[in-house]
Amino acid sequence: MGLFSRDIKTMDDLFVHMLRDIYYAEKQIVKALPKMIEKATNPQLKQGLEMHLRETEGHVKRVEQVFEMHGAEAKAVDCPAMDGIIKEANELASEVDDKQVLDAAIIAAAQAVEHYEITRYGTLMAWANELGRSDCAAVLKENLDEEKAADEKLTGIAEERVNMAAAE
Ligand SMILES: [Fe+2]
Ligand SMILES: [Fe+2]
Repeated sequence: MGLFSRDIKTMDDLFVHMLRDIYYAEKQIVKALPKMIEKATNPQLKQGLEMHLRETEGHVKRVEQVFEMHGAEAKAVDCPAMDGIIKEANELASEVDDKQVLDAAIIAAAQAVEHYEITRYGTLMAWANELGRSDCAAVLKENLDEEKAADEKLTGIAEERVNMAAAE
């Protein structure tokens, strides 16, 4: 089902479609993160990504919870945007040799992932509220808060990396 498929008629349909999009994206992130963790050198970065992998497994569960609360089948639809972000990250990483430069590339890729998730959860929360499902919005907010925290943590690691590089 494409984004502009005529199967989407109501705000409710659109909400469920977007939920299936983020469901797919979260599952792809669970698969992609171990490779990024393996390639990362900075221990803080490795640890941060490991922690976020565990959080991401929780995100999948929370999205499943929202499907259930909303009475919709937990089904994933392809999210070409997330596939593209992950593909670009892997391609870029394969071209970088220097470990510190590779860490910078991994941070940038991880932040692109977080920003995608942040925009999706922001929209999903707004639509859940519009549909009178503040209960669903509250569950989605738990994911959103963890995505924002992960993004901020990555910014901190990136800044520290720049400072360390300047001091060398
Ligand atoms: Fe997530
Ligand atoms: Fe995330």
